[in-house]
Amino acid sequence: DWTSESFVDATVAQLKHKLGDDKVVLGLSGGVDSSVAAVLIHKAIGKNLYCIFVDNGVLRKDEFSGVLESYKTLGLNVKGVDAKDQFYTALAGLTDPEAKRKAIGKTFIDVFDHEAHLIEGVSWLGQGTIYPDVIESVSVKGPSATIKSHHNVGGLPDFMKLKVVEPLNTLFKDEVRAVGRTLGIPEAILGRHPFPGPGLAIRILGDITPEKVDILQQVDALFIDGLKREGLYDKVWQAGAILLPVQSVGVMGDERTYERVVALRAVTSVDGMTADWAHLPYEFLANISNEIINRVKGVNRVVYDISSKPPATIEWE
Ligand code: XMP
Repeated sequence: DWTSESFVDATVAQLKHKLGDDKVVLGLSGGVDSSVAAVLIHKAIGKNLYCIFVDNGVLRKDEFSGVLESYKTLGLNVKGVDAKDQFYTALAGLTDPEAKRKAIGKTFIDVFDHEAHLIEGVSWLGQGTIYPDVIESVSVKGPSATIKSHHNVGGLPDFMKLKVVEPLNTLFKDEVRAVGRTLGIPEAILGRHPFPGPGLAIRILGDITPEKVDILQQVDALFIDGLKREGLYDKVWQAGAILLPVQSVGVMGDERTYERVVALRAVTSVDGMTADWAHLPYEFLANISNEIINRVKGVNRVVYDISSKPPATIEWE
């Protein structure tokens, strides 16, 4: 019978045998899979696992510092790389969703390749690939797939020539979480909603500017914190906010305003392939809407997305 304890014991033993004194580089995303893979490999080879966590400028509010801190608490040898400006430069003026995805994927590869070169004698690339990623190898989701869709352009980056170690590639998501619990990874990491690799860049419709990112980060944080406070976070599969390329008229005191509109999206789902909009309590939505409009400068209207997938995707881009 499969248990997470026996999986951890067997996998750590195999990794020790396979990797010996070799060095491994692994990109952390803040998500469940890469975190569990990192802690597992770290348990086998300790400091020879070099983790890299990139700030691409389109993460959630305070996510870079917060997640980096929890990785350090877990004992991981992790380097945080602030590459915000590089990503903003690559994204400047782009409005097409696929163009934004490509720019982020390519920039990530450039940054990661540069960082991997700084690790002397590294010979393996660690990845948090799980079984559904293996069977859906044509999928465009996830960092490894993002890499796949670009590596036919101009030859492979050097880190892609490394040997690959993917200790979770036989597991389903719930098994990955169980393994994470056995490894003592905090629920705050294991219970996180999925978050797309291109981050807030595909939740800001139109072009990306640091100012828009700042507004969306504030809105998103109020929404997510509210869900947590009201015990709703674990009841939805994914939630977030979208900054619309629309301004609307409002009144404030006796002045007319003409400001931004944000949409809130929360869905229930099993695997993200189909999803229903989450029937959040009206009371909650009313409070969050007030909080956002009162606290986030530049936003005067909040709407709630009541579309299910299909046909509406979870993300707007
Ligand atoms: P959609 O919008 O297709 O999203 O219903 C399904 C799930 O996939 C995530 N998603 C992405 N994840 N890179 C990612 O790593 C992407 O380009 C991407 N697009 C969508 C989305 O957040 C949801 O969990």
